[in-house]
Amino acid sequence: MTSFRMRIDGQADDVAADSETSLFAAMARAGIAWPVSCRNGTCRTCMARLLQGSVRYDIPWPGLSAEEKEEGYCLPCVARPMADVVIAQA
Ligand code: FES
Repeated sequence: MTSFRMRIDGQADDVAADSETSLFAAMARAGIAWPVSCRNGTCRTCMARLLQGSVRYDIPWPGLSAEEKEEGYCLPCVARPMADVVIAQA
């Protein structure tokens, strides 16, 4: 497990994250409210902009199009950080 830091634009500057925990779970652990529903990468309720850093997904393709992923969108309920990240509400 690798530890990272996460900034949630406009909400929190320094949240602990790690390579084995979803961004949503890290936010929940820190007491940060974030919209969520399915928690499995299909409903898109949690969709965020990934402003910095990179993430990985355990499922082959979460509920994002290739274009959305290229545009920097991510799904925090299933995205795990691979670096320090900055995200914002989509
Ligand atoms: S909560 Fe449904 S995709 Fe993240």
